This record gives sequence, C-alpha cells and structure tokens, in this order.
Amino acid sequence: MTLFSLQRWQIISKITCTVTMFRSVLKYILSFVTLFGLIFLLRNITIGQNFRMSALYEFQNRIQSSNQSRSRLTLHDNHTLYPHWGQPLSPEEELEEGDLLDSIAWPQPPPGSAPPNLSRTSDPAHSLFTIVPSKNEQRWYVGDQLEVQVHLHDFEGRPKRYGGDLLLARLHSPKCKAGVAGQVLDHKNGLYSARFPLLWEGSAQVAVTMVHSSEAVAVLRRLRDKRPDRVFFVSLFRQGNHSQKMVCNMYLPQDKGPLCNYTDLHSGEPWYCYKPKMLSCDARINHAKGGYLKNIITKKEALLFKSGVNVKVPIRASTSDTINVLPPRKESGSQKPDPVKLATSGYYYQDSWRPLGGVTMRHFDKTSITQCLTKKLVYMYGDSTMRQWFEYLVAVVPELKEFNLQSPKKVGPFMAVDSTHNILLKYRCHGPPIRFSTVTASELRYIANELDGLAGGPNTVVALSIWSHFSTFPAEVYVRRLRHIRKAVVRLLDRAPGTAVVVRTANPQALEGDASLYNSDWFSLQLDAVLRAVFKGLDVMLVDAWQMCVAHRQPHNVHPPTAIVKNMVDMTLSYVCRDGTGKIV
Ligand SMILES: *[C@@H]1O[C@H](CO)[C@@H](O)[C@H](O)[C@H]1NC(C)=O
Ligand SMILES: *[C@@H]1O[C@H](CO)[C@@H](O)[C@H](O)[C@H]1NC(C)=O
Ligand SMILES: *[C@@H]1O[C@H](CO)[C@@H](O)[C@H](O)[C@H]1NC(C)=O
Ligand SMILES: *[C@@H]1O[C@H](CO)[C@@H](O)[C@H](O)[C@H]1NC(C)=O
Ligand SMILES: *[C@@H]1O[C@H](CO)[C@@H](O)[C@H](O)[C@H]1NC(C)=O
Ligand SMILES: *[C@@H]1O[C@H](CO)[C@@H](O)[C@H](O)[C@H]1NC(C)=O
Repeated sequence: MTLFSLQRWQIISKITCTVTMFRSVLKYILSFVTLFGLIFLLRNITIGQNFRMSALYEFQNRIQSSNQSRSRLTLHDNHTLYPHWGQPLSPEEELEEGDLLDSIAWPQPPPGSAPPNLSRTSDPAHSLFTIVPSKNEQRWYVGDQLEVQVHLHDFEGRPKRYGGDLLLARLHSPKCKAGVAGQVLDHKNGLYSARFPLLWEGSAQVAVTMVHSSEAVAVLRRLRDKRPDRVFFVSLFRQGNHSQKMVCNMYLPQDKGPLCNYTDLHSGEPWYCYKPKMLSCDARINHAKGGYLKNIITKKEALLFKSGVNVKVPIRASTSDTINVLPPRKESGSQKPDPVKLATSGYYYQDSWRPLGGVTMRHFDKTSITQCLTKKLVYMYGDSTMRQWFEYLVAVVPELKEFNLQSPKKVGPFMAVDSTHNILLKYRCHGPPIRFSTVTASELRYIANELDGLAGGPNTVVALSIWSHFSTFPAEVYVRRLRHIRKAVVRLLDRAPGTAVVVRTANPQALEGDASLYNSDWFSLQLDAVLRAVFKGLDVMLVDAWQMCVAHRQPHNVHPPTAIVKNMVDMTLSYVCRDGTGKIV
C-alpha cells in the first residue's frame, strides 16, 4: 500500500467501529436528519481531510454541498432496487462511499418546482453573462483572474431563484488557438460565477454554455438512480444446435425468471443474465449492448431536453464577451501559476496543451515516440476513448505494426508490435457493462483482474479510461468498480515499483436527440469527480480529458478529435519518459 492509503485506512479503521455502532443503534431512535448530522460531524472530524477532490471539484462542491445529507439519504434508504446483490461493503468502504457520494452532491430544485410547463425552467436564450470589471482601471494582465457573472432566467424572462443548472465556461482566443476551462460556482440563487486564469497575452473571449437546466438535471438524477435498465444488454447462448438470446444487466428483477449469475469470483463485480430455458448458464457465447429503452420520461419532461433550446446552448454576453490581456505586471511576472489554486490543470496555446503542474510537456513525433517506448510494454484498458490512443499510436508510428488477432472491429482486443525496438502495445476493453457491439464471453475481463496478471516494472506502462459506460448506473456502481481497480493498481505499484500508471478522465460530448438520457455530461461530470477522488494521492498520472476538451475550440465529442488525442498521448509519453525518477506531484 502506498503511504497515503495506509494512513487513511488506519485512521478509518480506528473510528469505523464506533461509527457503525452509533449508526445501527441510532438509526431506530433518531430522526434521519439528526442521524445524518451526526455522521456528517463524525466524518468531518475524522477523515475530513482525506478525500479532497481535485481542485476544480473541491471548489464547486464546497459551494454545492449543503443539504447533501438529504440527497444521500434518498439514495441510501431506497435501495429497494438491489438490496443485497453484490458483496456487502466493509465499514471503511461504506464510509468512503458515503464521502464520495457527499462530494458529488448536486443542488436540487426546491420541492414543487417540477415544471408544469417549460415557462419556469431555465432558458439560455433569456440568460446573460457579464464580465466583472477589473479592479485595475479596466486593465487585465497575464496572471490575473477574470470573473464572469451568469444570470439565469426562465422562458418568460424571469430571473431563476435556485441553482443546480449545469454550465460550462471557456475562455479562448481563436487567433492564438488558445483556450482554458473556467471554474463554475453555483450560488444557488440563479446566479453563477465563472472564473478563469489569464494565461496568454492578447484578446480573450468568454463562452458560457448551459448544458442542462436544473430541472433537467433533476430528471437525469432520477434516471440514474432508478433506471439502470435504460441501456440493456444481451448475450447469445448456444449449445449444439440450440441457441437463444437473453437480456443481461448488472441487476435484474428476480421475479421475471431464473438468472445466470456471472458475478466475478475474484473481484465480486456482479453480472446477471436471464437463464435460457433449454440451455445451461455455461453456454453463454458473447456479450453485447442490447439497446436503449425508449419512453423513459414523460412528454413534459422531454421538453427539458431539446437540442438547440435547452441542451448545450450558449448564453449571450450582456455587453462585451471579450477582453484584452496585457503582459504580466513586473511585480508578479516571475510567479508560476498554481494549478490547485486556479483549479486549472492546463490550457491550450497554438493548439498545444500546456499543463500547469506535474509533468513537463513535450511533443512527440513518430521518431521520438519510438525512442520513448523502446523496450516498453504498453497495456491500455477501457472504453473506446482509450482505444483512440491505441489507434493514434498505430497511425502515427509506421514501425508499430498491428498484429491481426482477428478481433471484431472496434472491439478488440488489439495488439501492435515493433519488434526492432521491442515495443508491445495492447488494448483491451473493460468488462461489463461495456456497451460494445459484440464481445466474446471469453474476452470479457475486468481491468482489476487484468492488472493482477501483469508483472509490471519500469518498462511497463498502464493506461486506463473507464467512465462512459457507467453513466446509466447509480454512482455507487462506479465507486465499487474504481475501488477494485484502485486496489489492483496499489498491488501493482507495490510489487513492481516504477510501473507507469496513467488514468484518463471523462470528457463532455455532443448531446443530440435523446442522448442526454443515457450519456449526459452531467453523468460524466459526476463520475469524473469520483474518479479523481478515488485516485488522488496514488502514484498515478491523471490526464485531464475533461478540461482538455472543455478548453479546446472543437465541438464536444465523446471521441475527441485527433488534435486533442495527440495532446493526451503526448502528455502520457512526457510522463512515461520523464527524466530521472522525478515523481509527479
Ligand atoms: C468541518 O471541518 C472544518 C475544518 O476542517 C470546519 O471549518 C467545519 O466547521 C467543520 N464542520 C462541522 C460540521 O464540524
Ligand atoms: C436544507 O433544506 C432544508 C429543507 O428544504 C432548508 O430548510 C434548509 O435551509 C436547507 N439548508 C441549506 C444549508 O441549504
Ligand atoms: C423506492 O423506489 C421504488 C422504485 O422506484 C419506488 O417504487 C418506491 O416508492 C421508493 N420508496 C421510497 C421509500 O421512496
Ligand atoms: C405555463 O405556465 C404559465 C405560468 O406558470 C402560464 O402563464 C402559461 O399559460 C402556461 N403555459 C401552458 C402552455 O400551459
Ligand atoms: C439438432 O441436433 C440433433 C442432434 O444433436 C438432431 O437430431 C436434430 O435434427 C438437430 N436439429 C436441427 C434442426 O438441425
Ligand atoms: C451471485 O453470486 C455471488 C458470488 O457467488 C453471490 O455473492 C451472490 O449473492 C449471487 N447473487 C444472487 C442473486 O444469488
């Protein structure tokens, strides 16, 4: 275990007994509100420091996390959906899960504000943002911070009185191909602030987008927590000349027929299919995305998800959206920007990502990629956003020859080899609930188990990206999956120090049609915050795909364009081939 986790587990285990005892006794005698007040207090005293979110989310969450106990209560008390499936949590896991869920608490519209019609919901066309004047006689300098106030209004132009809308903000300069993600604060009264560090000279233009109204987020929250069946899966079973397709999922209602239990014996990750009538559970041949359930929201709720009306629509500036940034003032000229204080992991300049902390960014062409990866074994695991890295490397480096494993297109597993330089590149998708077209049952593997099968060492690179296919499940499901992966990463780093582990975060995407109901950025942002918190303090590098996509000039896409993928891969290689043994902080 790393020092970080050792300390944490020790602290937690000392106090968990007390907490658990308190919990079970008090549950029956105190009102829920009092109970949660107490648990929150205990948590605050004992482990309050241990689960700091990455700076961006820490700031947002501090603003947004009051009344979190109520939202958690709803989640935890109504677990009628899957009461006892999957393995029970240990007391410390339960504590950590509670903390993670608290940290992603999101303001809810007040009771009774469920919209009878659109008129009282947030309307980006009626909303405005205003640049807060500079304190320095309307001059801005590199190194300053720009603040923008966003006022949300409803469809009849009335100011909104509560928060919970999902906004994204970006400061950019088309001329310099520069961009940086803003930090959005919810004041919970219809007002939001967006803050940007000023990092380049010249003109800088503010862009604010309403991704979802708070009323839409309330619908998404309900779907996430109550409708994990809205993407469904199928498996083909075959024995001799009999075959049958059955529905599968992480949880299935037990009253609709007997189940095959594919719960992973090693990690305990649950997975089930309905049992085919004539065939045994061993006859499962493959796994595939079945489809998307339709009609999961009412006609009125559907009005909250209109592309171009209230999903990912820009908010206008009340006056100007552009400022001119002057060179740094002499007195502050030598100060390096602090990424934690700024909640900014980096920015683009001339389309090139400049991280503000950690790794020193280098750019790699085919020759320097080969140089960096010589004698290295690179294992990539995850969804299609990790497959993009594999595809990029194979496309850029001609010597890296893809070996034909005769895997299904876009599914894998994939392998590429440069035998001259002894480079091996492998990609494998993550286990269920992977939504790929058809994965052979024997190739359905959990990342944690795969990591346990690696020797590791200074010549091994592991890159992970797992988020998108979890958007239809309650956050607890993702927390559990990441916990298993984290444990495996800790074991790997313990037995094979020097293994480079890189974790790619989530990213925003295009939300056309009813895509929001399955893949909304709100789901991704919540998962992303959990991901950052779970890996915080470990000796792994995070590639901040979220900010790299928010800051970029190209439109959001679940599969970011090559210009962004190149920057992600370059950042990974910069970490893998950093000079000496310098650890990334
Ligand atoms: C939690 O801890 C912080 C400092 O760590 C303190 O400011 C705050 O008052 C505490 N809250 C509660 C409810 O104890
Ligand atoms: C939490 O919710 C309750 C009931 O809705 C409300 O009275 C209280 O003011 C809220 N507290 C905060 C800190 O928002
Ligand atoms: C829990 O959720 C189920 C399924 O959505 C619902 O039918 C039930 O009323 C809920 N129970 C409580 C106590 O909220
Ligand atoms: C929507 O609500 C507003 C007031 O809340 C009302 O004036 C308007 O007529 C309603 N529109 C429809 C189509 O029901
Ligand atoms: C299925 O296989 C059995 C023997 O295993 C055979 O008797 C039967 O004719 C086959 N049915 C079809 C439709 O091919
Ligand atoms: C499925 O199998 C796992 C592991 O054997 C077990 O813990 C779980 O309770 C089983 N699920 C059901 C619904 O029986």
